[in-house]
Amino acid sequence: MRALCVGFVVAAIVGVACGQEKKAATITIKAPGTGHRDTVVKVDGVEIKGADGTWTFTTPALEAGKEYTFKVEALIEPNNYTKITRPREVKVKAGDAVKLDLSTEDKKLDKIVVRWVPTPDDIVDEMAKLAKVTKNDIIFDPGCGDAIMMIRPVKLLGAKKGIGIDIDPKMVKVAKEKAKEEGVADRIDVREGDILNEKDMAICSEASVVLIYIGDDLGARMAPVLQKLLKPGTRVVSHRFKLGDWKPDKSVTVKGKDGDDYVLHYWVVKEKK
Ligand SMILES: C[S@@+](CC[C@H](N)C(=O)[O-])C[C@H]1O[C@@H](n2cnc3c(N)ncnc32)[C@H](O)[C@@H]1O
Repeated sequence: MRALCVGFVVAAIVGVACGQEKKAATITIKAPGTGHRDTVVKVDGVEIKGADGTWTFTTPALEAGKEYTFKVEALIEPNNYTKITRPREVKVKAGDAVKLDLSTEDKKLDKIVVRWVPTPDDIVDEMAKLAKVTKNDIIFDPGCGDAIMMIRPVKLLGAKKGIGIDIDPKMVKVAKEKAKEEGVADRIDVREGDILNEKDMAICSEASVVLIYIGDDLGARMAPVLQKLLKPGTRVVSHRFKLGDWKPDKSVTVKGKDGDDYVLHYWVVKEKK
């Protein structure tokens, strides 16, 4: 019996020495899945399998007592024009069973990309009408695409100037070319910039009218910046999307030439408290 016990102890010591104590860890990840288009979850750049909003990753065997870091990333498409990248780092040790919740946003870490979807010309005109654009107005479009929201009010209503920023350098080029083609290049100022970067957004303080079409996620992130930087009295009109919890003064539905209904939201920037 004694010999047997000694044998076990020796085997355990030899096992540890030989690295037999290595154990895997599991990371169970919750991310927006159901109701979203094909959320993809990657660990250290490799896609892992999941279902119904839960993904489980089993690490390779890890050495006991050592801490390992894994890079987890959820690629979420809440709709066909928005892509959210939600990265996190998870630290685990051999044998751990760790849970990671990627279902809520992190304003600092999440990256949101909205692709170009143009607002139809007649809806741009309806937005300008709702904002009561005059010759004295400077129009700003955060995420300006081909600059249509500045070009039409400048060309058709004589607005003083249009300023736009877009994160996509290709769109900035397209916008500049279009402004030239339409003969208003001298009154359209398009710059490459990120609407989530307050420095890039600083130019919006010149505006008296803001026309927006940017999606719920980016709109919610941008709203506090707009409220901070825009002058009191600035009129803001958004095509379809609200701006987070900034409650519109009114919302109207207009009929497009294509027969579809378009919802427009309207705000006037209040005096700063
Ligand atoms: C839905 S399109 C709207 C274009 C234009 N405002 C219109 O209504 O026709 C959104 C545009 O925002 C740009 N965009 C997306 N994310 C951005 C960001 N973080 N900063 C600046 N522009 C962004 C895209 O490149 C795209 O051109």
